[in-house]
Amino acid sequence: MTKIAIILGSTRTGRAGAGVADWVLEQARQRADAEYELIDLAEVDLPQIDEPIPPAAGRYTQPYTQQWAQTVGAYDGYVIVTPEYNHSFPGVLKNALDRVYAEWNNKAVGLVSYGVDGGVRAVEALRPVLSALQLAGVSPQVALNMRTDFADFGASFTPGEHQFSVLTAMLDRLLSWSTALAEVRYATSATAS
Ligand SMILES: Cc1cc2nc3c(=O)[nH]c(=O)nc-3n(C[C@H](O)[C@H](O)[C@H](O)COP(=O)(O)O)c2cc1C
Repeated sequence: MTKIAIILGSTRTGRAGAGVADWVLEQARQRADAEYELIDLAEVDLPQIDEPIPPAAGRYTQPYTQQWAQTVGAYDGYVIVTPEYNHSFPGVLKNALDRVYAEWNNKAVGLVSYGVDGGVRAVEALRPVLSALQLAGVSPQVALNMRTDFADFGASFTPGEHQFSVLTAMLDRLLSWSTALAEVRYATSATAS
């Protein structure tokens, strides 16, 4: 069965992102089309990148990089949940993306952002990074507004009714692209062997 990881890209104490990731996971698990799991970057022991060789070479030396490669490699697709920090996405998320390479390739990713303006600038900053990793970002995206989808600026998460159908549209596309890209990965590995 297709396996999708929901990656929570915010690690801050008191983060609003935990409620968002829980909502995505709960909604996704009501579907029968894939297995959905949460990866909380706050629980992944990844220091700032310290590999001597660029990750695209695939020669990871640090045990935590090897562990992260195994984790990332176990999934067919991803949902990234990201806040907007200074018109971009958090450094902890960039570090997690940069750390490995092949394990991201030829897979699909859906985006759930949040911020004062829905976190859309974080997503626009993220898309070229995903592209460099050969991750295919689906177009439907969930953009949650700190003023209307949260109470007390993040203290609690109360998504608007329309956000449920946007999430469904994003997950529908993510699943269809994840299925299609699995074929690409099999074809690529068959050619390589
Ligand atoms: C370092 C930092 C920078 C921020 N920069 C922005 C920003 O550029 N645009 C925005 O809409 N919100 C910004 N915010 C507000 C966040 O959208 C809001 O605090 C949100 O709760 C952050 O997600 P988190 O609670 O999961 O860390 C920023 C917050 C932090 C902590």
